[in-house]
Amino acid sequence: MDSMGRYASKLRVSVTDRCNFRCDFCMPKEPVWIPRDEVLSFEEITRVATVLAQMGVTKVRVSGGEPLVRRDVEDLVGMLRGVPGIRAVSMTTNGALLKEKASALRAKGLSTITVSLHSLKPQLYHELTGTHDMFSRVMEGIKEAKRVGFAPIKVNCVVTKGCNEDEILDFATFAHDGGFTVRFIEYMPFDGTKLWDQERVVSGEEIIRRIEKRYELVPLEREHGSTAAHYRFRDNSEGEVGVITSMTKPFCSDCDRIRLKADGKIVPCLFSMSEFDLKPLLRIGASDSELSNFLRESFWLKSEGVESMLKDHTELKRIRPMYTIGG
Ligand code: GTP
Ligand code: 5AD
Ligand code: SF4
Repeated sequence: MDSMGRYASKLRVSVTDRCNFRCDFCMPKEPVWIPRDEVLSFEEITRVATVLAQMGVTKVRVSGGEPLVRRDVEDLVGMLRGVPGIRAVSMTTNGALLKEKASALRAKGLSTITVSLHSLKPQLYHELTGTHDMFSRVMEGIKEAKRVGFAPIKVNCVVTKGCNEDEILDFATFAHDGGFTVRFIEYMPFDGTKLWDQERVVSGEEIIRRIEKRYELVPLEREHGSTAAHYRFRDNSEGEVGVITSMTKPFCSDCDRIRLKADGKIVPCLFSMSEFDLKPLLRIGASDSELSNFLRESFWLKSEGVESMLKDHTELKRIRPMYTIGG
């Protein structure tokens, strides 16, 4: 529990800071990578998840950088699924390697998958992600994930003003016709390039307003701790849309997430400047109770959240870029 009475029930693990893409809202031009010997092993990550599960964590999300560039990451998924108390393991990926990996991930027990897709126009997609032939690969990856049985597939789209905002309706149609859950994410100040500006944020409210010009939407009840507010289509299509309003309507009061970075640092809140290094304890062979005390003390210091951080815009500029934390 943190000092404001919120409980951690979900762990987000960044398994690598490396990525095969270069989205400018996430990566700096010249990223500084975590040295390989500082990256936690699968055994170390599983140990942390095991101790956290004993303390009440029930779900794990694997993220990056790009999690699928970490060799054999599906084995980690299997190890996490084997932790007593962990009921679901999910993953957020850019989808580039999904076609090859979907089947193995499913076989190892991955519960759900979320694919980032910021444009449906190949050229813009390539500009945004700093790639040149990935759009069709990612679409094939999504298709393969569907084929091997992941359902529903969530699609994350970070919306930025003057860039992909004219695709909101196309994405809604993609959700409606394809049966996907498309979540529109407000642009957050975690860009490596320091391009973030309040002016470039398109609010969730505006996004829903635009979708409602074409589709009748029905709001769904928000799950405890959920990042997204979801809507179904009135015509009962299988798809859904959602908005993640981190910037205009933060959802910090029932946040139930704790984060583990690839280098073993605990980050209690996405926006917090503090990190608590668990790796030394892990590597000197600390006992479960020593680890759980450290985790308890770190999580107790979880900051209030976005609103308190937003008051100070100079602080915002110093927030870690997204590739080092994975969302
Ligand atoms: P589910 O709720 O399990 O579907 O996943 P999620 O939405 O937590 O995870 P995902 O990796 O898809 O992240 C979607 C967006 O939510 C990303 O932009 C994340 O950075 C953001 N996000 C995740 N957790 C938090 C959080 O605690 N606070 C804020 N403000 N944003 C978050
Ligand atoms: N603001 C909001 N979301 C972001 N993501 C990456 N950078 C940002 C940002 N600056 C998204 C990724 C992925 C999720 C973990 O966070 O595209 O879908
Ligand atoms: Fe890679 Fe994801 Fe960051 Fe894009 S948003 S550079 S895909 S980690």
